[in-house]
Amino acid sequence: MSYDRMMPAIKRPAQLVSASDDVVPVTLHDLGGPAARPVFTLDRGKLSEKGLWGFVPLDPRARSFVRLRAQLLRRMSRSECGRTVAVISPGSGDGKSFVAVNLAAALSELYNVCLVDLDFRKAAIGSLVGTPACLGTEALLANEHRLAEIGCAAPEARLIVLPAQQSTDATRLLASSALPAMFEALRRAPETISIIDTPPMLDMDDAIIISHHADAVLLVIEEGHTKAQDVREVLRLISPTPLVGTVLNRSLAGAST
Ligand SMILES: Nc1ncnc2c1ncn2[C@@H]1O[C@H](COP(=O)(O)OP(=O)(O)O)[C@@H](O)[C@H]1O
Ligand SMILES: [Mg+2]
Repeated sequence: MSYDRMMPAIKRPAQLVSASDDVVPVTLHDLGGPAARPVFTLDRGKLSEKGLWGFVPLDPRARSFVRLRAQLLRRMSRSECGRTVAVISPGSGDGKSFVAVNLAAALSELYNVCLVDLDFRKAAIGSLVGTPACLGTEALLANEHRLAEIGCAAPEARLIVLPAQQSTDATRLLASSALPAMFEALRRAPETISIIDTPPMLDMDDAIIISHHADAVLLVIEEGHTKAQDVREVLRLISPTPLVGTVLNRSLAGAST
């Protein structure tokens, strides 16, 4: 993988994560009842090689995600919105999955995190994180399994991953009553922030449906690539779900707002 498109901010010299960050001492709680999901250990070296630097907090390239984490936590507490955040963008390849995994990694230093893949058209989270064989969200939404049986847990990282299998049945899966039930369970999970990876907003209505269930959305846009009219259309489509932040991915200024 080429790193030449990285945000310049993550190429700057290392700065340790501030000691004043609000570290909340928590243990990983079962999600969806007594856990029946496999447990695994993250391979942080391999994750870093894939550009998932959020799992290696002292790596200077993790810095952008530590900053994004701080902004997200500040805005979430200010607006008192809940704890499920859908990562969205207008198109494919904008960096949604990249941002979702890195942000989940950075957040999991402070909170329990549930990283959820609801992109049935280009499921990526399982292979990015390197999860062992486990059931995916498609099995939950097809009402074949309980939430406690879905995904896998990395307790040492306070991370639960609910990956997805590619499916041609995305529309039917996302219409399932198990979807709002899953969001309710994620909201009830103590000290847990859920980051939800989604398909492109402007392709089909999948991401619109997901964003309407989420408490907030984080918009990823690509500098010099995403069109202003597409951003306006996305903002119209997510309404009334609040926008909790915008990531300018592959930005010359390395900005997020
Ligand atoms: N800021 C970045 N630095 C380096 N690689 C990136 C960056 N953003 C995205 N990528 C890479 O670009 C590709 C597309 O990103 P991805 O997250 O899969 O997009 P999406 O989920 O929006 O379709 C992936 O290989 C990803 O690792
Ligand atoms: Mg993706």
